[in-house]
Order: sequence, then structure tokens, then C-alpha cells
Amino acid sequence: MSTLKKRSWAEPFKIKMVELIKMTTREQRLKAIKEAGYNTFLLRSEDVYIDLLTDSGTSAMSDEQWAGLMLGDEAYAGSRNFYNLEAAVKKYYGYKHVIPTHQGRGAENILSQIMIKKGDVVPGNMYFTTTRLHQELAGGIFQDVIIDEAHDSENPHPFKGDIDLQKLNALIKKHGAHKIPYVCVATTVNLAGGQPVSMQNLKELRKLTHKHGIKIMLDMTRIAENAYFIQQREKGYEKKSVAAIVKEICSYTDGATFSGKKDALVNIGGFLALNDTEKFEEASNLVVVYEGLHTYGGMAGRDMEAMAIGIEESVNDDHMKARIGQVIYLGEQLQKAGIPIVLPIGGHGIFIDAKKFLPHIPQNEFPAQTLAAELYIDSGIRSMERGIVSAGRNAQTGDHYYPKLELVRLTIPRRVYTQAHMDVIAESVEHVYENRKKIAGMKMVYEPKYLRFFQARFKQKPAAAKKAG
Ligand code: F0G
Repeated sequence: MSTLKKRSWAEPFKIKMVELIKMTTREQRLKAIKEAGYNTFLLRSEDVYIDLLTDSGTSAMSDEQWAGLMLGDEAYAGSRNFYNLEAAVKKYYGYKHVIPTHQGRGAENILSQIMIKKGDVVPGNMYFTTTRLHQELAGGIFQDVIIDEAHDSENPHPFKGDIDLQKLNALIKKHGAHKIPYVCVATTVNLAGGQPVSMQNLKELRKLTHKHGIKIMLDMTRIAENAYFIQQREKGYEKKSVAAIVKEICSYTDGATFSGKKDALVNIGGFLALNDTEKFEEASNLVVVYEGLHTYGGMAGRDMEAMAIGIEESVNDDHMKARIGQVIYLGEQLQKAGIPIVLPIGGHGIFIDAKKFLPHIPQNEFPAQTLAAELYIDSGIRSMERGIVSAGRNAQTGDHYYPKLELVRLTIPRRVYTQAHMDVIAESVEHVYENRKKIAGMKMVYEPKYLRFFQARFKQKPAAAKKAG
């Protein structure tokens, strides 16, 4: 009998090429973050050591994908790579029609415009920044129908992405089904901390929406990660492959928007998928206004090829085990150190609860924004605010939205960093945590009109400025 207590796992790939990164000093970082208005989006990437800003477009492509780039058919119309992409979408997701877009928000724009009329209500399992904005720009009113547990960072519910069907029912009663063009369901809900939706919930949602003639549109941006959680956590799915689960999720929906920059392991790209042929024709017509012809939609042929290959790689069980396994490894290091993080550990990153990390900083002094800046100053790690700055303002009242979750996201790019990088990240977060009482909040000194988190600028409050200077 073996004496081994446990068997370690490792990534199902080896490294063929590396990109060197610059090491910086604390003084250099203090200067860089000040120049960036304490907004990590405004840093130059060459001043960053470990870049956890996002998992979007930051993955390492496989040699097969790089080889695919060489097969780019850069014809304006009917490129061979479009048909390969279309075949991949049909095979792995099962949708009838697909229109490429330059990235996810391109698809969100087209979908919102063809589906939403002024005054319509669009329920969703928590908002995503660009998705909600496009719904609003099309005249819709977003309504959050995620289960309450999702707003509580410590609640261990295994499927915090689930839709609360009672909340949805109440909306249908209040406004009438004709006012609800579709329910927007996100897989692994980003702003809840990468939390999955269960198959059971999707099945029940399908039943309810069917009864009322309401469509379901999936934001399938991180669908393979969601499928992996279903495989790990939901009864009856233990032996099913990620690929089979992904396809089943899609089968309960009428269409989807997709950012290829996450699951599909490419640096750029997305699509809109629809089953309804009439709506598809409408979307094909509109896409030429905003993106490009319906057989490239803002993507180069080579990029469509890389995305088609990436879709196939993304539903591989070993890939997904390593991908989520790395995120869980980092999360467990932080848990051991007592850092308040969103639980259960999510799919694409670790979300630090900034309200608990910096309880002395009120939400309107931007605790998560402040913490992201402090982490950068400590070690050159770039993270992202997902709290009050990301939430923006209520279009009707002009007030800040005050989200319950005030988070800093340590987003893990796919196939990019090693376990040693994870250790360095954990140590830096611990170091900042030990010194948290000395950290003061910030003031917003520039606020752009749309999606302010990308370009807003901040100043440190006097106590913090004194410490830094
Ligand atoms: N939906 C979700 C859930 C997303 O996370 C994103 C992008 C989009 C839609 C939009 O896709 O960027 O291709 O236009 N999320 C990135 C992030 C920006 O960092 O979380 P896109």
C-alpha cells in the first residue's frame, strides 16, 4: 500500500516561451501610482510586477492557438476562420447562429438594441458594468434578482450566482411579462466574486420564463468555470465532463453574449449567439453599423481562428482543474492568514472584502480603491477595485450606488503565473493587512461620465499622503 497521504496536481502544460518582467522599487511605485491618480487602470503595465488587474485578454495562448494565427484568412467576407468559429460555437455551445464581435461589450450593445425597448425591465443575477450600461443606454431598467446570499461575502452557499425566482416572479407580477424582454443570466457572476449558478436553478428559471414567454440570454463569459463548479458541487454532475455541462447550460437559454477574452483563452474577441432566426437577421444587420460585416464583426480572421481553438481547450477537464485549482491555492493561503475574502473561493480570482480589511474607511472614501493602491505600492501587484467606484451612479437620482460588496479583485490570468507567484501575492496581502490601521481613504478628484472606474482619478486623504510623502 502507498504511504503517500496526498498526491499533488500540476498544470497540464509546459512553458515554451517566457516574457520578462521588470522589478521596481517602492519609491518608483509610489511615484507611478500617484501619477496614475491612484487608479490601477491608469498605471503603465511595465511598472507592474504581477498583473492581477483582470483575467480578460491576459491569458497565455497555446502553441496550437499561435499556429492558428498563421492560418488567418483575412478576407473581408466569408473568411474560413469564421466558419471554424461558427462550427466551434455550434459544437460546444449548441447555439444556431453566431455573430462575431470585437469583444463582449460589442455583443451586449447589439443584443440590448435589438431586444430592449424604452422602459423595459431587464432582470439579472447581479449587474456587470458594461452589460448594465448597454441595457440602460437602450432604455432598459436593470433589476437585480440574484439570491440575497450573493451580497454577503461570508455566506458559504455553493451557488451564490443563483437567481431568486421569487424576486423574478414579483417583477413579472409588477410590470407584466411584456415589459421583460429577457432575463440576463451570467455564469460565474463576476461582481459576486466569481460565484456560479446551479443547473437546478437554470432548469427552474427555464420553466418559469417559458410559462411567461420571456427569453433567457446568457452572459456566458466564464461558462466553463461555472461548469467546473457544477461538476464539483452539484449532485448528479460529478461524472459529467465540463464540456457536457457547458452544453447543457446553453440548452436552457435562447442566446448569449460572450467575451472570448476570458474562458476562450484569447487576447481579443467575442460573439453574440442566438437561436431565433429573425432576431439573428436583425442583429446581423445592426452589427455592420458598429462592428463590421457579420462574418468578422470586428475580429481579424486569425483571431477568430485562435478563439475557435481556445473554445475547445477551455472545456478540457484537466485545464479547468488546474485553472480553478490555482485560484483556490491562492485563496487558501489568504484564508490561513486570516484575510477577509469572499467565500466560497470563486472561479477567476480572489476577492478581498475591503470593508472588513479597512473597516475604519467609510465606503464613500473608497476602501477598495485605496487597498488596490496600497497593494501596488507594497509589491507591484496590480489588482482592481470592484466596489463603489465600479458601481457608478444611479442614472435617475445621480447618487453613488452603494453596493454591499466593496471588493478588491486579485484576478488570475489563465496559464500565465506560477505557484511561486501565488505565494508572493499572498505575502504582500498579509503585509498590507498587518499595517492596515495606518491606511487612510481617498477623495475622487476626476469622475468620467461612463464606467468611471476605468479613468477616475483620486487623491490620498491627508493622513495617507503624509505617510507616503
Ligand atoms: N460580462 C462579464 C461577466 C465580464 O466580466 C466582462 C468583462 C464582460 C461581460 C464584457 O466583456 O470586456 O470583452 O467587453 N470583464 C472584464 C473584467 C473587463 O475585467 O472583468 P469585454
